[in-house]
Amino acid sequence: MPVPERITLLVLEDDASFGGVLEEELRARGHEVERAETVAEARERVRRGSFDVALLDLQLPDGSGLDVLREVFAESLPLEVLILTGNAEVPTALEAMRLGAYDYVAKPPRLEELNVLVQKAAEKARLRRENAALRVRLRHHEPMSGFVTGDPSTKEMLATLERAAGSPLPVLIEGETGTGKELLARALHEHSPRKAFPFVPINCAALPENLIESELFGHERGAFTGALDRKIGLFEVASRGTLFLDEIGELSLALQSRLLRVLETQEFFRVGGTRSVRVDVRVVSATNRDLRAEVEAGRFRQDLFYRLLGVALRVPPLRARRGDVALLARHFLDRGGSGRMLDAGALETLGAYDWPGNVRELEMVIGRAAVLSPGSVIRAEDLPLEVRPRAAPRVLRTDLSLAEMEREYIQAVLEKNRGHRGRTAEALGIDPKTLYNKLQSWGASEDR
Ligand SMILES: Nc1ncnc2c1ncn2[C@@H]1O[C@H](COP(=O)(O)OP(=O)(O)OP(=O)(O)O)[C@@H](O)[C@H]1O
Ligand SMILES: [Mg+2]
Repeated sequence: MPVPERITLLVLEDDASFGGVLEEELRARGHEVERAETVAEARERVRRGSFDVALLDLQLPDGSGLDVLREVFAESLPLEVLILTGNAEVPTALEAMRLGAYDYVAKPPRLEELNVLVQKAAEKARLRRENAALRVRLRHHEPMSGFVTGDPSTKEMLATLERAAGSPLPVLIEGETGTGKELLARALHEHSPRKAFPFVPINCAALPENLIESELFGHERGAFTGALDRKIGLFEVASRGTLFLDEIGELSLALQSRLLRVLETQEFFRVGGTRSVRVDVRVVSATNRDLRAEVEAGRFRQDLFYRLLGVALRVPPLRARRGDVALLARHFLDRGGSGRMLDAGALETLGAYDWPGNVRELEMVIGRAAVLSPGSVIRAEDLPLEVRPRAAPRVLRTDLSLAEMEREYIQAVLEKNRGHRGRTAEALGIDPKTLYNKLQSWGASEDR
């Protein structure tokens, strides 16, 4: 079980005896405490130190704790602020909340209450830091037009794509549904010398068989009933640009031969036309089938396969690069303008799920959680049920004594909270001291 980091605290309190008591009591609860007695000193320390929480008195000889609070926010320091307030200062405390303080505590504080607040505030500061760290990683992992990855083999694939972009070679992108094939095809176009010309996507699966020819190649006036005018096909629209043939594996054998001829000759006839049209298009195709297997099964022409294959890119499914899940989740939250943070439980749940719909599914899950989660933090409970691990069926054991049962249960809750006693006590609805005593009596190891 990981040992939770110690909480680092700055206490700003000019009353030496009261400050001293606070300092000692908080230290006795396992925290690292430093104390300042003036605003100037506190400002200096928050700027230089790395505190999780600052506990600020309001009235000090050289100013107000609010000055320190303002400094924290002006400099976006990753710590949370708790305000110590006397009865007469409640309006100021409310002002502090408005400025972004985590909470305020009346003087003299009840130490257990204060300690719980300190733990909660520290947890929030830690989340803030972790999410900030994810953002920094994001900045390093977004090289190609919004395609986010930190995964080494996916990055290699991106490097190949970047090299291929400058060449006239056709590119075939293979990958499961929702892995970002279209995003990559667009990125390829954007990084190619053709970027000033059109990128034209065609979904081969969605085109009705009887229209696909005229869609692709256009038709002459009167070519068939209803062809009242000459129509330019998508091949011509894409001239000098990129034609993206999505779901190429769905193309009928007849159209496969037609396409092959165009790719070989760079020429085609409009439907009903007698003069050939020359085109200069770069073809990028994508499929979520295994095209080689389709060739072997006789459903896809081998010669066309090799024509399209110039450069082959295989996008790994999300479950093969679980490290990307947190990165992508952060990316989608930021892109949606949600400042919400993901807590450790949510990240763990997302990381354990298999993502059959890959990045598209993750994008939807995050989008929904960002809207539906009640607070600023997204927890595992805020994620849709299908993503969450199915709870083990509850089997109520009847062969245990009450004391044994209690012990097993407490151990389970402790494990769920990764050994964090404060959170475990909170979840159990008992005093931390009670929990501590129970663990002691069972001889649990110290210092968790
Ligand atoms: N690595 C990534 N970084 C950021 N966004 C991504 C990434 N991969 C996919 N997406 C996003 O996920 C969604 C699905 O991607 P896309 O449509 O490109 O997938 P696809 O492979 O073409 O799927 P399908 O096979 O179902 O057509 C899009 O909104 C896309 O922007
Ligand atoms: Mg697609």
